[in-house]
Amino acid sequence: MPQYQIAVIVGSLRRDSLNRKLATAVAKLAPSDFSFKQLVIADLPLYNQDDDANQAASVKRLKSEIAAAQGLLFATAEYNRSIPGVLKKAIDHASRPYGQSAWAGKPAGVIGISVGPIGTALAQQHLRNVLAYLDMPTLGLPEIFIQAKARPVR
Ligand SMILES: Cc1cc2nc3c(=O)[nH]c(=O)nc-3n(C[C@H](O)[C@H](O)[C@H](O)COP(=O)(O)O)c2cc1C
Repeated sequence: MPQYQIAVIVGSLRRDSLNRKLATAVAKLAPSDFSFKQLVIADLPLYNQDDDANQAASVKRLKSEIAAAQGLLFATAEYNRSIPGVLKKAIDHASRPYGQSAWAGKPAGVIGISVGPIGTALAQQHLRNVLAYLDMPTLGLPEIFIQAKARPVR
């Protein structure tokens, strides 16, 4: 029975997301006392502060899954040198209502893969700023910046 449950959030909704593949591959490398669960963020509504007192079922589900985890792993794409809106939306939802954030105190790791040469470095740095504000201790090293390249044809 795994001792540590890690909730995985992939910052991309793309069907063939490289970041989802990366998160899946990383989970296979972990020791046996870790289990990983990729959380669904595709069904979250647009964030509207007016809804804080009456959060959607998908938001409540996300918050309870985060609460049940001992830590978080974010695998994020980079969109225009930042994190994709779908990831920011999920973070905003689970941070509310004020004072009832699901994120506070949860340790987090940040990884990412993109086609650009800096391999999501700027998106990850933006994400780290957000996570710091949410009182999430993040693993500083190792940094994982991966550039995806097509396999050469031989
Ligand atoms: C709107 C948009 C903006 C992008 N901006 C960047 C970028 O700033 N840096 C980068 O390396 N790749 C950028 N890309 C390319 C992504 O790295 C590429 O689509 C990657 O496959 C996304 O991750 P995913 O496979 O997990 O969806 C962008 C892609 C889109 C759709």
